[in-house]
Amino acid sequence: MKAIILCAGRGTRLRPLTFTSAKQLIPVANKPVILYSIEKIHKAGITDIAMIVNPDNMKDFQEVLGDGHDFGVHLSYIVQKEPKGLAHAVSLTEEFIDGDDFLMYLGDNLIQEDLSKFVYDFRKAHADASILLTPVEEPTRFGIAIMEGEKVTQVVEKPKIPPSNLAIIGVYMFSSKIFEGVKNIKPSWRGELEITDAIQYLIDNNGNVQGHVVYGWWKDTGRPTDLLEANRRVLSEIKTSQVLTQLNDGNYKIEGPVVIEKGVTISNTLIRGPVIIGKGASIINSYVGPYTSIGPNVTIENSEVENSIFMENSTIRDVDVRIDASIVGKNAMISSIKIKPRVHNLVVGDYSTIRLS
Ligand code: G1P
Repeated sequence: MKAIILCAGRGTRLRPLTFTSAKQLIPVANKPVILYSIEKIHKAGITDIAMIVNPDNMKDFQEVLGDGHDFGVHLSYIVQKEPKGLAHAVSLTEEFIDGDDFLMYLGDNLIQEDLSKFVYDFRKAHADASILLTPVEEPTRFGIAIMEGEKVTQVVEKPKIPPSNLAIIGVYMFSSKIFEGVKNIKPSWRGELEITDAIQYLIDNNGNVQGHVVYGWWKDTGRPTDLLEANRRVLSEIKTSQVLTQLNDGNYKIEGPVVIEKGVTISNTLIRGPVIIGKGASIINSYVGPYTSIGPNVTIENSEVENSIFMENSTIRDVDVRIDASIVGKNAMISSIKIKPRVHNLVVGDYSTIRLS
């Protein structure tokens, strides 16, 4: 059994962060989103994985993940030159899959569910495909399935009038029969070869397509608000505090669960978990509220922050309004001017969002 992880999307809704990094490499609780997927796949017993990347983000992945050795897997890279859809991405993997069964994972999805049972049930049923499903409130935004017992009888991509509320979430199992499906479909209204249509092809041609409904949390991290929600979800799973730094200065208070890595300085500060603080960060005369991820070597000084993601080497200094629901990229700096005139003095990258109070 093999796996493919689809990471070729351009991440336009996460600009400017995605100008300098693939969206799946953005950290949630100080860990790139993609590593959560790789860990789940590994845990389900699959180690031979192909990453489907685009020509621009391939090097980002290779820098962070290499050949997968550090994570106990073997990673190959396959380039999808143009964004022609999920089924098109699958069509590029036929040689890699080489007649095997495989798991397909959309790389920007975070799911709570362990995948072992999903993989086991697919094998046991000798299915041609199996899709992970979950009830959602906005079914028009997703691929939707209709089921009879364990079997899926129809799938439809982003229906205007949804026939059910069971959304296809980003994890699929396929036998090599899916390649026949992807070769026999036409582009959809959005100009993409939809994997949903290839699955419908299997259903229409007597294929055995199973549905596996799960109820744990799941997040497609396509938008900034999704990333912040995923960050809250992952941080809320910290149950016991782990403090790996010798905190010398007695003038601080920690409430709730926290993870504090090595070499962190905390002084004259209240930290209220769940919070994670990466290596070498420095937090002085500040407040760090719940659901905050502070990356390595971040500086927070004379400021209040909460419910936010601060990536490595960013600096927050002398900001007198609390920073909330924010994502601050690597090496970014937010500070206030202490001399008159009081102005906003900005160097803002393309597609940035700044909301002032
Ligand atoms: C894709 C699939 C859709 C699925 C969704 C899950 O949609 O086409 O069926 O429900 O992922 O995130 P897209 O994100 O390409 O709009």
